[in-house]
Amino acid sequence: MTVPKNTPSDEPLPPFGRSTLWLYKPAFFPQICTEKKTILSVDDILALIGDRCDGVIGQLTEDWGETLFSALSRAGGKAFSNMAVGYNNVDVEAANKYGVAVGNTPGVLTETTAELAASLSLAAARRIVEADEFMRAGKYEGWLPHLFVGNLLKGQTVGVIGAGRIGSAYARMMVEGFKMNLIYYDLYQSTPYGQFLKANGEQPVTWKRASSMEEVLQEADVISLHPVLDKTTYHLVNKERLAMMKKEAILVNCSRGPVIDEVALVEHLRENPMFRVGLDVFEDEPYMKPGLADMKNAVVVPHIASASKGMATLAALNGKIKGYPIWSNPNSVEAFLDENSPAPAACPSIVNSKALGLPVSKL
Ligand SMILES: NC(=O)c1ccc[n+]([C@@H]2O[C@H](COP(=O)([O-])OP(=O)(O)OC[C@H]3O[C@@H](n4cnc5c(N)ncnc54)[C@H](O)[C@@H]3O)[C@@H](O)[C@H]2O)c1
Repeated sequence: MTVPKNTPSDEPLPPFGRSTLWLYKPAFFPQICTEKKTILSVDDILALIGDRCDGVIGQLTEDWGETLFSALSRAGGKAFSNMAVGYNNVDVEAANKYGVAVGNTPGVLTETTAELAASLSLAAARRIVEADEFMRAGKYEGWLPHLFVGNLLKGQTVGVIGAGRIGSAYARMMVEGFKMNLIYYDLYQSTPYGQFLKANGEQPVTWKRASSMEEVLQEADVISLHPVLDKTTYHLVNKERLAMMKKEAILVNCSRGPVIDEVALVEHLRENPMFRVGLDVFEDEPYMKPGLADMKNAVVVPHIASASKGMATLAALNGKIKGYPIWSNPNSVEAFLDENSPAPAACPSIVNSKALGLPVSKL
């Protein structure tokens, strides 16, 4: 596979196609999908792969499993680069079976996603969208003390579920920006932010790792979800867990839609008008479950947390799989994003590099 000198981030997306699927074809490389569709089906992608294709840069709305990996492999393909951090749309075992390297784009989305989660937290806490609609509808007749009373964040507790890269960055924003106390739960790791503050001689807020997710749900005033989507996190927030939360809590989801049982959420929002949510992702994207759009206590945006240029750059560089080793630390990809110097001769993040026995960069 070869990658053009200019990565996709340097060039505007073609006006004729809406999908960001790129195919690397020996004869016409790179070939950009020109389907006038936002979401491509497996059949659409099969047709695009055809009988010769070195690799594909695709997106999280595509279902990459046995059918597509076997077709890509038959067409001579060696890489699928997912333009996303999460790769719950990819069956990595099927990719391993056909020897296809799977790329993702960690790190570049950390701050942008955390900032959107912080924006949704504030929008929900201060009822920005409701107030905006009220204003535009010409209903404002003068200042009133009880008009859109919101939540004061300072001194309240922020809960983070999934304290990886994005969860930790979000925690930093809420703790440093609004002096909130922090409680977090993560299935696997027990490091993050509190120890960092302590190591720097600061202890402006309390912080603790909860022993269970339920503890976070019960204690926090604002809860932001940042885990990966897998079988341990599918419907992690369900009817029972919603019921554990404070009646006036704020729930934010910028991870993946199915982490919340959206039908249960709509019911909970209806029954608890002071409970608020900020959602970037939805269970059946691009659709919302019935009733969600009518809920005044929900702020909804169309999966915009990842709208960033760096992601396209990393996705394209992951396509350089032939002849390039794998970057040793996918959590530290800044060197690939510096526009003033050439990118390292490596693929930034290949999630199944160990399974495929791919060499690691010495850089
Ligand atoms: N909305 C967007 O546009 C957008 C953008 C980027 C990433 N994301 C989503 O955010 C997710 C997190 O990204 P990241 O870069 O922080 O990943 P990360 O791998 O650094 O962090 C994920 C964390 O979730 C934890 N986790 C896994 N299972 C858990 C469970 N059952 N309970 C609690 N914690 C659990 C992991 O231990 C890890 O610390 C991605 O997988 C992706 O789905 C969404």
